[in-house]
Amino acid sequence: MTKTSNQMWGGRFASGPDAIMEAINASIGFDKRLAAQDIAGSRAHAAMLAAQGIVTDKDAEAIREGLLTILSEIEGGKFEFSTALEDIHMNVEARLKDMIGAPAGRLHTARSRNDQVAVDFRLWVRDQCDAADQALAALMQALLGQAEAGADWVMPGFTHLQTAQPVTWGHHMLAYVEMFARDRSRFADARRRMNESPLGAAALAGTSFPIDRHATAEALGFDRPTANSLDSVSDRDFALEFLAASSICAMHLSRFAEELVIWSSAQFRFVAMSDRWSTGSSIMPQKRNPDAAELIRAKIGRIFGANVALMTVMKGLPLTYSKDMQEDKEQVFDAADSLMLALAAMTGMVSDMTANRPNLKAAASSGFSTATDLADWLVRELNLPFRDAHHVTGSLVAVAEGKGCDLQDLTLEDMQAVHAGIRADVFDVLGVENSVASRMSYGGTAPVRVREQIARWKEALK
Ligand code: ARG
Repeated sequence: MTKTSNQMWGGRFASGPDAIMEAINASIGFDKRLAAQDIAGSRAHAAMLAAQGIVTDKDAEAIREGLLTILSEIEGGKFEFSTALEDIHMNVEARLKDMIGAPAGRLHTARSRNDQVAVDFRLWVRDQCDAADQALAALMQALLGQAEAGADWVMPGFTHLQTAQPVTWGHHMLAYVEMFARDRSRFADARRRMNESPLGAAALAGTSFPIDRHATAEALGFDRPTANSLDSVSDRDFALEFLAASSICAMHLSRFAEELVIWSSAQFRFVAMSDRWSTGSSIMPQKRNPDAAELIRAKIGRIFGANVALMTVMKGLPLTYSKDMQEDKEQVFDAADSLMLALAAMTGMVSDMTANRPNLKAAASSGFSTATDLADWLVRELNLPFRDAHHVTGSLVAVAEGKGCDLQDLTLEDMQAVHAGIRADVFDVLGVENSVASRMSYGGTAPVRVREQIARWKEALK
């Protein structure tokens, strides 16, 4: 007869669970991903129990060796997971019992699955914060590569997706570097807050055994043990903070992906995606689709969905542990997988894409993008109040529109017909290169400022 979790704890149970009960109750299908963390937690716990004289050194050694063997079985794909054993904790413990016999039963002294799962999951989410951090650093490097190559390439800057003012390619790439840097700091911040060990909170109230929670916390790389046993087993803020940081990061990825979809279209042709990151159409031979960008754009749905789902699971739960909380893991696993895939795909696309400098410049030069420069010139050179300068410039735009040309194509006579004081040197500010070079304010788009920022980020990312 196969062992069931009832047999692990079912002293007072006469019959096993209904099949549907087993199906709704079991989490092994997904929490097997916590195996390495579960074994690390158990090893730290067993070593502490021996150091405190709660179990013998001999038993602790048998437990340690058994756990290491189980870990290699799991890593080698040789471990048989059983749904009847409910979750990863029971699966590991039952196997340990098979292997080492009686001492296995001592491992669960001064511990409960409630603090066990809390510690396992924290360790897993902590690793994901580190993985996200690394992936974001790689993406920032790829963006810096693009920024450096085109620090002074002129492109249109947009508001309302309408041409606004010329900016530089490098400046646009660095805008995303800033966003992804904030994402990194959010993950780092969440990691710092989650890095406390709930192990030893036991079921909810702590334990009467003389355990050393500082020792297990240290062994597992936590900064300290959590300070309240009730909170320790009922808290999932760490998972929610990870999902919140992931949601904001995915939102950034999605915005960038949207720009790449627009920019790679035949109408824009600002960038060409490499073959490695494009797909063709089975019917339209001319097509080159930015599928990776579209899928990155869509991943936000799963990640944000996970965030909302777990918030909804947690709201209204009384202290302390409730089985509802078992629903935390699949959401976080899926969100973490989606985020990592999206980050890797974005990094690949950005590293491989080629900006089309002539097209960027041509687009920057159309749509009266230097109208603000003209207005600024009127203020600076003719001492017009800005509101009047705005009005004069508006009239000049109307004249250009009527002639079907751009501002720099108007004649001096056209200009002077609108405002007699305008001189020929006005044309100096009408070229897009002049326009961007003049935006020297701190954080502005002038190539000198962009190069300063690139240098700063290169230093920071070393
Ligand atoms: N599989 C459970 C979970 O993921 C482990 C904790 C079970 N605790 C309990 N009291 N039944 O939450």
